[in-house]
Amino acid sequence: MQTRLTELLGIKYPIVEASMAWITDAEMAAAVSNAGGLGTIGPNAGLKTVTADVSETGERLREQIKKCREMTDKPFAVNFVVGVVGWDRDYSDRCVKVGIDEEVPVAIISQGSPQVYTQRLKETGMKVIHVCSTVRHVKKAEAEGVDAVVVSGTEGGGHSGFDQITTFCLVPQAADAVEIPVIAGGGIADARGLVGALALGAEGIYMGTRFMATKECPTHPNVKQAVLAATDTSTIAVRHGSPAKATGQNTGDRGFVEERRGSVRMLINDYMKRIMTEKGADLTFDSALEASDEQESNPESNRTVAAFVHGDLEKNSITVGQGSGLIHDVPSCKELIERIVHEAEPVLERLNNMYKT
Ligand SMILES: Cc1cc2nc3c(=O)[nH]c(=O)nc-3n(C[C@H](O)[C@H](O)[C@H](O)COP(=O)(O)O)c2cc1C
Repeated sequence: MQTRLTELLGIKYPIVEASMAWITDAEMAAAVSNAGGLGTIGPNAGLKTVTADVSETGERLREQIKKCREMTDKPFAVNFVVGVVGWDRDYSDRCVKVGIDEEVPVAIISQGSPQVYTQRLKETGMKVIHVCSTVRHVKKAEAEGVDAVVVSGTEGGGHSGFDQITTFCLVPQAADAVEIPVIAGGGIADARGLVGALALGAEGIYMGTRFMATKECPTHPNVKQAVLAATDTSTIAVRHGSPAKATGQNTGDRGFVEERRGSVRMLINDYMKRIMTEKGADLTFDSALEASDEQESNPESNRTVAAFVHGDLEKNSITVGQGSGLIHDVPSCKELIERIVHEAEPVLERLNNMYKT
């Protein structure tokens, strides 16, 4: 299966593992790359406890990159989340430096301007993919010289964009707007999603939520179970950022300021239902993490780590996409990728037959 994306990246299938912070680690990235896709090491890969120490974060990333290299000779990516201000920028600067030192083949840059790192990374020979959620951002990324863009619609898990545009509407508009390959993300979980994305003008897909329920994904089994149990109505997009952040305070929210609030898609579990009732219209991603019955303050953990790493879904929700309703099993990354590619054939045949009659 060939597209300009597979040629650009030297991969077999146009399937990219979307970055998922803690849970897309070296083993999982290598498993995806070995299966013919592009594996991605997330910004906090390998983290078990929270640290504000930038060098510790950088060295952990270095270890993850080295580990991934030991497990695959195929290309893989590292996600660099652009820090907007203060500590967050120090953090992203350090991670980018480590990525350059370690000669990472592909950089996936998200949540910030393509002006910050693109040129520096391109000069080292790295392929650069920028994650965007509007046509304006896609054009800006192309103008900065990125090699490809991911466009991720509001269906997606995690930070799901600033304007809540659906994948179905965003992908064709992005593909019309730029010459470089477009990779479609947000709500894609099976062969129909792959074929649909290609039909909309994309040259590859970017899957996060679907990869959460794989054997290699290091997230806690409770999280995988929650994904399996989810249905079409199990998620909600909540606002990201809070007024406190708009005043310039930096509490680890990557410096998001008021006008850059987007939304984060989360699972509506019992905990989330309670927080939704409690916060009402004031519900934000931050407030969802700061519920009134706050668990014992633990400097070595936070709610996201507690949920994803330690599986505590009693007092936490998780970020997850609408595509979770399409997920019913926990295959290996290889089984999943091969299934998607294999099942695309009958989907295409069905379309072809429809067209002929
Ligand atoms: C648990 C989780 C963690 C995420 N962490 C990150 C991250 O660290 N960096 C990032 O750019 N996007 C992150 N995202 C967004 C994904 O990279 C991607 O855009 C999204 O998962 C695609 O939609 P899908 O979940 O429907 O496949 C995360 C998504 C999830 C579900």
